[in-house]
Amino acid sequence: MDLGIAGKTALVCASSRGLGRACAQSLAREGARVAMAARTERPLEEAAREIGALAVKADVSLEADRVALVQRVVAELGPVEILVNNAGGPPAGRFAAHDVEAWRDAMELNLVSAVHLTGLVLPGMIEAGSGRIINIVSIAGLEAVDDLILSNASRPAVLGWTRALAREVAASGVGVAAVCPGLFLTNRIRQLVKIRAERSGMSDEEALSSWASTIPSGRLGRPEELGDLVAFLASPRAAYINGAALSIDGGLVRRLS
Ligand SMILES: NC(=O)c1ccc[n+]([C@@H]2O[C@H](COP(=O)([O-])OP(=O)(O)OC[C@H]3O[C@@H](n4cnc5c(N)ncnc54)[C@H](OP(=O)(O)O)[C@@H]3O)[C@@H](O)[C@H]2O)c1
Repeated sequence: MDLGIAGKTALVCASSRGLGRACAQSLAREGARVAMAARTERPLEEAAREIGALAVKADVSLEADRVALVQRVVAELGPVEILVNNAGGPPAGRFAAHDVEAWRDAMELNLVSAVHLTGLVLPGMIEAGSGRIINIVSIAGLEAVDDLILSNASRPAVLGWTRALAREVAASGVGVAAVCPGLFLTNRIRQLVKIRAERSGMSDEEALSSWASTIPSGRLGRPEELGDLVAFLASPRAAYINGAALSIDGGLVRRLS
């Protein structure tokens, strides 16, 4: 199936590895002109070279970096037509582990970064009468996940904003959607597995397989599966999907709506 995004300019945030990188890879494979952003220059440049993308060093939790990132992408690749909002996850831990600064940081990292980046590209999309914004969220936006209280508070806010914004801009031809990954074996999940292993006295491998055994599909997700979903959502094929939060989790989430 031709997704019809060849030649489109796509900005994928937080993409030197893991899920963001897989999104960049899938979009590039479909012929999009991709810009990738992350904080650490070397792995970012290596990943961008492999994928054939533009690398822009940026910390999406910093307002000035967000502005400079979009300016650079527009200058080098033209107006952003596909925006993939992604960032690292907030620190794991229970309520008592986080001070008020940690709460502010989590909201800045996962909500405000996406809101601000979107605000920087949305006027151009509206003027063009097209554009797709995809927010990488988490199943922690749909149900409570142990040890992820910061995520359980900040992710639903992103889903609420996704839904509301989609309704505001749908008539202009711009689409907004969210994806909620379950368990994909990336650095982020390795860190969370370590915490579970320490608490339960299991080895990392035991903690990982015990967690994975709760997935009805019987396996972890492959980052490229999420990348391909995002490429589809970024395409005109998904034009009628607006405001949705799509789980990609092998059947893990139990909620009904
Ligand atoms: N993996 C899963 O199963 C899963 C499930 C649900 C939700 N998620 C969420 O999906 C997102 C991506 O997760 P992942 O598993 O792909 O993580 P990952 O493998 O740790 O990769 C994170 C990527 O984001 C970049 N990054 C982190 N903080 C950044 C910042 N402030 N500004 C710019 N780039 C930043 C990292 O590069 P630098 O460190 O160099 O910046 C790296 O490229 C996270 O929010 C995570 O919580 C993941």
